[in-house]
Amino acid sequence: MRGLFASVCLLLAAVPSVFAANSTGCGKPKTLTNKQYSVQVNGKNRNYILNIPDNYDQNRPYRLVFTWHQRGGSAQKIVNGEDITKGGALPYYGLKAIANNSAIFVVPDGLNSGWGNSGGEDVTFFDSMLKTVEADLCVNTNLRFSTGFSYGGAMSYALACARPEQIRAVAILSGAELSGCSGGSKPVAFYGQHGTSDSVLNISMGRSVRDKFVAANGCTKPASEPQPNGANSVKTVYSGCKAGYPLTWVIHNGDHNPSQTNSGSSTPFAPANSWEFFTQFT
Ligand SMILES: *[C@@H]1O[C@H](CO)[C@@H](O)[C@H](O)[C@H]1NC(C)=O
Ligand SMILES: *[C@@H]1O[C@H](CO)[C@@H](O)[C@H](O)[C@H]1NC(C)=O
Ligand SMILES: *[C@@H]1O[C@H](CO)[C@@H](O)[C@H](O)[C@H]1NC(C)=O
Repeated sequence: MRGLFASVCLLLAAVPSVFAANSTGCGKPKTLTNKQYSVQVNGKNRNYILNIPDNYDQNRPYRLVFTWHQRGGSAQKIVNGEDITKGGALPYYGLKAIANNSAIFVVPDGLNSGWGNSGGEDVTFFDSMLKTVEADLCVNTNLRFSTGFSYGGAMSYALACARPEQIRAVAILSGAELSGCSGGSKPVAFYGQHGTSDSVLNISMGRSVRDKFVAANGCTKPASEPQPNGANSVKTVYSGCKAGYPLTWVIHNGDHNPSQTNSGSSTPFAPANSWEFFTQFT
């Protein structure tokens, strides 16, 4: 009991004080609505779709979730969702359906349908969206998250590297280092999942992205590399991580797929796993 109490205190003490809690949009009537917005970033036109909870309350600090599409994808495809039996993801990576109107979603469009992040331009795009959204809407600035599959996972990783003080946690589905990593030595809570049969971005690439944050978060590497349990995924919660910076790794035996299910289930496990990971922070 005493140990538990001590760890809870440690966890609370570890929440970085650089985070302010409420965005400047709190307490003000909003002007933003559910639609596509455009912004000029480094002279280029950039688009994103915004989704605000039903019955938005200007005095409630919401979670803010960035959802980045895969290569060849688009913001609209993330909003609509794609066939999960054909390697697609559920709408908003399945998070909006379980968020119960507790989160604002930002869905960006990549240049050339990807996240090359040339010269950090996609991170600058993130900075711009964050500023606009938080000046207008009420966000708990301790609770900003980023997720994506494949190239979208790579972009979430790039943000974890470059914006560790802005991003509370990432969920990286079958990702790799494709959008760079400017930084990567400061801790960010990290959820990753990857298939051992990934034919697009092999498992070694996923592991090296993970291991960047195993190191940054001060976690202990397990004695042996976690393996899938047949057609079931195996979740490993790393031990020894700095308080407030957990790391969870889910290994499965599938291919490059955001909608992998466990044996006998038709429900992809990424949404519930990611949401559970994000909502451990309050
Ligand atoms: C943030 O907003 C909540 C809800 O309106 C309020 O209870 C809390 O005091 C605010 N926190 C700060 C630091 O202003
Ligand atoms: C959804 O959110 C509402 C309002 O915050 C709350 O009253 C309700 O219990 C929540 N429902 C679930 C299933 O969590
Ligand atoms: C994984 O892919 C990378 C990049 O294509 C390649 O360099 C590496 O050899 C591959 N590793 C394995 C184990 O196949």
